[in-house]
Amino acid sequence: MAALTRIEEEFRRKTRRSAELARTAIDSLPSGVVHDSRYILPYGIYVERAAGPCKFDVDDNRYIDYFGGHGSLILGHDHPAVRQAIAASLANGTHFAANHPVEISWAEQIRAMIPSAEKVRFVSSGTEATQMCLRLARAATGRKKVLRFAYHYHGWQDDMVSGYSSHFDGSPARGVPADVAANTVLVRSRDIAELQSAIAAHPDIAAAILEPLGASTGMVPIRTDYLAVLRDLTTRNGIVLVFDEVITGFRVSPGGVQAATGITPDLTALAKIVAGGLPGGAVVGRSDLMDLLDFGAAARSGTEKITHFGTYNGNPVSAAAGLAALRYIATTDACGQATLAAEILRRGLNELFESLGVPWAAYGQSSALHIFMNPSRRPCALDGFDPLLIPAEELKARPPETLRLLRLALLVNGVDISGWPGGVTSAVHDAAIIDETLAAWRKSLDMLKADHVIQG
Ligand SMILES: Cc1ncc(COP(=O)(O)O)c(C=O)c1O
Repeated sequence: MAALTRIEEEFRRKTRRSAELARTAIDSLPSGVVHDSRYILPYGIYVERAAGPCKFDVDDNRYIDYFGGHGSLILGHDHPAVRQAIAASLANGTHFAANHPVEISWAEQIRAMIPSAEKVRFVSSGTEATQMCLRLARAATGRKKVLRFAYHYHGWQDDMVSGYSSHFDGSPARGVPADVAANTVLVRSRDIAELQSAIAAHPDIAAAILEPLGASTGMVPIRTDYLAVLRDLTTRNGIVLVFDEVITGFRVSPGGVQAATGITPDLTALAKIVAGGLPGGAVVGRSDLMDLLDFGAAARSGTEKITHFGTYNGNPVSAAAGLAALRYIATTDACGQATLAAEILRRGLNELFESLGVPWAAYGQSSALHIFMNPSRRPCALDGFDPLLIPAEELKARPPETLRLLRLALLVNGVDISGWPGGVTSAVHDAAIIDETLAAWRKSLDMLKADHVIQG
């Protein structure tokens, strides 16, 4: 066991100020964190500033960042176009509690980019966006059930938690009423037959919501023909199809997965990149559905309007940041550059795994990176690895201690990955940064081997 602690010892040696802050944080913050995915033992790093593809901690360590602001920073940290827009907006005040001109330009920019966006309603997060999609779908159809897909993440609200990482049997997650959880119809496999029978068995489905690349930004990928079948079945059964493009929007292509595949949902949830790295989100979609939020339309049809407030909806600073980021994405090859960086990284990692005899695989679509840690030691991991053929449970399985030590070793060597494990690249992860990342991975895997955490 002594060898096992060497990675951790090195991590502690390099992050003394972070350790002190973590000891203080625990008094005020449950587990010392504000987001579950930032929880890692012995403690997470405390970051002070970030620029381009890197962030810097309180001990002055530099990390190449693959967390990417939880996916919101396709242009990297502190992009000049976004920074200037934020600075100019801040100088005018932060909240007018009134309409402001930039919200119109922001909405127009979204409509120009996202195929399903006939109208736009701003919210403050992805969780709020997906919740509003369900509200609109339930109001439009008069039905209450929601077709969801095992492991797909749509936020942390009551309707969405069971069947994401647990409670796959439909039981309620702790704190969620059983009758709310009972409204979920959960599709477990990626088989079209299961999808067809779920829809046939439940005539009271209001909405079908999914991550259109597959669970966790394509960690459990689905085929485009699956999306096409879902589009067809939902249309034929009067179900509102919702794409959760909170991560994939403005990343997979400037118009998200829907522009890349040509499959258009009825409603789309957007957040993260849409607000340029600041808090914000949007629900976009068909005019007749969005008109459920419209005073005039409700009066004309004699129906109850859906109430919607939200103190920070479309706040001017997020609007300015979002507009600047989206304009930049629409007029440059930012999505293509981020995708290219991820492709080079995935290829380099697979070569590295092969040369070191580590039976893992790097995969993913667009600018996403996923590491398959091969829990059942499949011989095919390197040769012809196809995540479409591997069960979701296995793609999701992460040996916790190996993952923890991998992340600590990478931090020691100057790379911060997400706990998927993997992350996202940005348009400013250039060739030199990817080379540096691969060198850090090599050192980290050597450390894991030296400590007998992995063989090979
Ligand atoms: C696909 C997806 N949907 C919804 C959400 C929730 O967004 P937020 O964290 O802004 O509430 C996330 C967040 O990671 C996400 O990845």
